[in-house]
Formats: sequence, C-alpha cells, structure tokens
Amino acid sequence: MSNNEEKFKKIISHAKEYGFVFQSSEIYDGLSAVYDYGQNGVEMKNNIKEYWWKSMVQYHENIVGVDSAIFMHPTIWKASGHVDAFSDPMIDNKDSKKRYRADVLVEDFIAKIEGKIQKEITKARKRFGESFDENQFKTTNPRVLANVNKIEDIKNRLYPAMDSDNLEDIKLLIEELGIACPISGSKNWTDVRQFNLMFSTQMGSLSEDANQIFLRPETAQGIFVNYLNIQKSGRMKIPFGIAQIGKAFRNEIVARQFIFRMKEFEQMEMQFFVRPGEELKWFEYWKNERIKWHLSLGIPEEKYRFHDHEKLAHYANAASDIEFDFPMGFKELEGIHSRTDFDLAAHQKFSGKKIQYFDPELNQSYVPFVVETSIGLDRTFLALFSHSYNEEVLEDGSMRVVMKLPPIIAPYKVAVLPLVKKDNLPEKAREIMDSLKYNYMCQYDEKDAIGRRYRRQDAIGTPYCITIDHQTLEDNTVTIRERDSMKQERIAIGKISGIIAERIND
Ligand code: GAP
Repeated sequence: MSNNEEKFKKIISHAKEYGFVFQSSEIYDGLSAVYDYGQNGVEMKNNIKEYWWKSMVQYHENIVGVDSAIFMHPTIWKASGHVDAFSDPMIDNKDSKKRYRADVLVEDFIAKIEGKIQKEITKARKRFGESFDENQFKTTNPRVLANVNKIEDIKNRLYPAMDSDNLEDIKLLIEELGIACPISGSKNWTDVRQFNLMFSTQMGSLSEDANQIFLRPETAQGIFVNYLNIQKSGRMKIPFGIAQIGKAFRNEIVARQFIFRMKEFEQMEMQFFVRPGEELKWFEYWKNERIKWHLSLGIPEEKYRFHDHEKLAHYANAASDIEFDFPMGFKELEGIHSRTDFDLAAHQKFSGKKIQYFDPELNQSYVPFVVETSIGLDRTFLALFSHSYNEEVLEDGSMRVVMKLPPIIAPYKVAVLPLVKKDNLPEKAREIMDSLKYNYMCQYDEKDAIGRRYRRQDAIGTPYCITIDHQTLEDNTVTIRERDSMKQERIAIGKISGIIAERIND
C-alpha cells in the first residue's frame, strides 16, 4: 500500500472514530457510496455552507438565493439533455457480477503505472540525495520514460474513444491492457454499455397513470426553471446570479472513494446571467473569484490547480475545473462553466414560455447567457478534512493527531475544561460556558486528565481550549491553549470572546 493510500485509510477511520462521517446504514452492512455525517461532521458541513453562502450571496448585491424542490417536472430533464445524454460507459465482469465504469478501470490501470514511476523517483532520490534532479531523471531514465510513454499511449486511445462514444474501442483497450476484475481476478468482460446516471421513481398512484420522475442529478436546473420568477419578483438586472445549496443524486458505480464520489451528495451552485457576448469575460471573472475563495481558507496554493477543458460539452463554450490535491491525487473539486444560452433556450422551447430579458440599456430582448460555478460540498469537506489531518510527534516522544481545520470551519470553536472535577471549578467553568455558548459552538468536558482532553479537542480541530484552575477562582483568569502551537497563555475571562472572534474572522 502506498503512503497516500495508507494516509487516506487513516483519514477515513479518523472521520468515523470522531463522529464526522459514517457509512450509511452501517448496522445493515452499509449502502455503497452513501454516507451519513455525524455530530462533528454536520457542524463542519454547516460551516462550509455558511462560508460559501456568505461569500456568494451576502457579499454580492447582485446574487440572490433559491431553494428549489428536488422533484421537478420530468420534461425538465428532457430539455436539459440529461435523459438522453447523462450516462457513463459501464462494463460487467461475468464472474464476479460486479459492474465498473469502463473509463475508471482504465484510469486505475494508469494510476498503477504512475505509482511505479513514483517508486522509481523515490528510490532515485534516496540514492542521489541532495543532488537529485527530478525533472532530469523523469526525462532520461529509460524505465520511467517507457512508463510515461505507455500512459500517453493509453490516454491517446481512451479519451478519443470516450469523446466519440466508441464503446467497442474502450472494451478492446481493456482487453489489450489485460485488465482483470479486482474481485474475481478474471478478464471475462461483457461489452461496454451506456447507463443513465439518474435515479427515477414514480409520482402519483399506479391507478392514475403514475409518472416517472427523476431525483435531480444537479441543482442547477432548479435555478434555470426559476429564472423568470426570481428576475421578475426580485426586479433583478443583468448581470445577476442565483445561488443554491442542495442535494443531488447520481447512480455512480464507484469503489473506495469515500465521500469523493457519492450517490447522494450536496452541491453549491451559482448561475450567473449575463449579456450574450460578455460570457467569456465573466467566465474569467468567476474563475478568479472562486480560486480566491478556496485560498481564503488558508490552504497552500500548490494544493490547487486549474484544468481547462479542451473538449467541451455541446452546451459550453468554455469550461475549467478547480482540482485539489486529494489523498488519491489531483481531482476535480469545482467546475466553472460558460453554458451559453443552452439551458434557458431549451426550457423556453420545451415549456413554450418566453424566457427573455429586456435590457433597457441596449433596448433589446434576449435569452441571457450563463456562467456557472458548481462545487461539491462533500468534496470540499474531504479536501479540508484530508488536508487538515496531521500526525505530530511531540517533544516527549508521544504522538498527537491534530485536525488543523480553518477555525471558521471547525465544528467547535472552544472547549471549556475545568482542571479538576471538584473545588467549585466545574461551576465556574459552566458559568464561562454559558457566557460563550450563544456566540460559539462550545464543548464542555470534565472527564479524564487534562492532557487527554486536549488530545480529544485536537482530534476534532477545536482551535481553543479554556482551562479553569484554582487561580481562576482567585483572580478571574483562565489559560487559553491554541491548537496548532499548543501554546498556553493566561488571560482575563473577559478577553476570551474577543480572542476567539479575532482568530475566526481572520
Ligand atoms: N451543474 C453542473 C454540474 O453538476 P458537475 O461537474 O457534474 O457539474 C459539479 O458537478 C461538482 O459537483 C463537481 O465538481 C463535484 O465537486 C460535485 N460532484 C459531482 N458528482 C459528485 C458525486 N457523485 N459525489 C460527490 N460530489 C460530486
């Protein structure tokens, strides 16, 4: 197992052990790619939502919110193209009866070759020490070069086949590479077929011609179909945006990706309506704004990169992903898409309702163009959670696991800890807790030795611990311990709130 795989495993078990994320329906052996957020996870998730909502809606006068229903008229998904084209190429192994995404099987194969390259680099770095030049090694070592070329060849087969829907060639590639089913170990594959990713259910009773409806695979369509309502009732002037946070559902066939790829997940999306012809300017604007948002959380810049799409979806004239360096490598965290007037024009056509904007400055009506920012809430959670997980060896040789979460995202901001459970210290601690809890999520803990209690708070990322000791009763001071530096300082009780506020607002 590679270092990264091992770290990912530790992160997943930490998320469970400390009440962040649980497998759904665990006592019934779980439901694949579905997860529940526990007592700390839900707080962290709510904090991420609030941080996004404030920066998108509260800080932009021209962006408003919406909370549309998950169930929508089935024709919406016909108009949006999801009924006809929202599918993934799947392949079944006839022996294990397991179904896989055909492109992911090939990508996993590529990842294995990349792992081999990485191993060679690590070995060489050890051998050459200080003088090691990774770039030179990668471009001259014959074994590395052969593997790099192999990856290039595979990608040159896979991506054109995916783009042209050449399912036979994807199957051929799987066979030629000798990819075996991880469960049965056999290469006994079915043909590759397209499977629609939308979940469907019935609305209405069977007797009255029940309608098939879909669980939304993106929140964006709930924004598009409310465009007229919001533009008119809010007297919105272009350019303006509509933001939404909500659940989306996709029948993803996945393995071992934790909350990176789920069947039920949450998106935070914003559709920005602009004049036709100005969309690429706004596309650049939103790319810039969104990367600034990510960096404002204090994670180093090198953990993010843009991936501009070369091959565009039929409705887009520009698209870029913000990728994050997850434990399994760089993967998509957010998409910024210039969607032209595709969606509004399609809804205009399918609904028969005129969806246009009268631009008083141009004295002209048009279907607005749209620039979308679309970020996965669960992926943002995973990005912050995995980056924050740290194992530190302390001076006394002991180890602490500390979640260095951005304070604004941490589930609890303060822990209130009486040094001992007697001598009126708990009563005094409760008093302090009562003065703080209306402003901050606080946790009170009086069980176990103080060192163990600090560790428990480190493990859930609480930025501050307040300890009440015997001196507190004499002079109304406490110690405040900062999570990352573990430094303790004696301060007056009256100063606690200000110090916490300052750090959180940083
Ligand atoms: N409205 C555009 C849209 O839905 P997308 O690239 O399919 O675009 C946007 O999804 C974001 O939603 C992704 O960047 C990702 O963060 C998140 N996302 C998509 N599928 C997901 C899944 N199965 N599990 C978790 N997050 C997902």
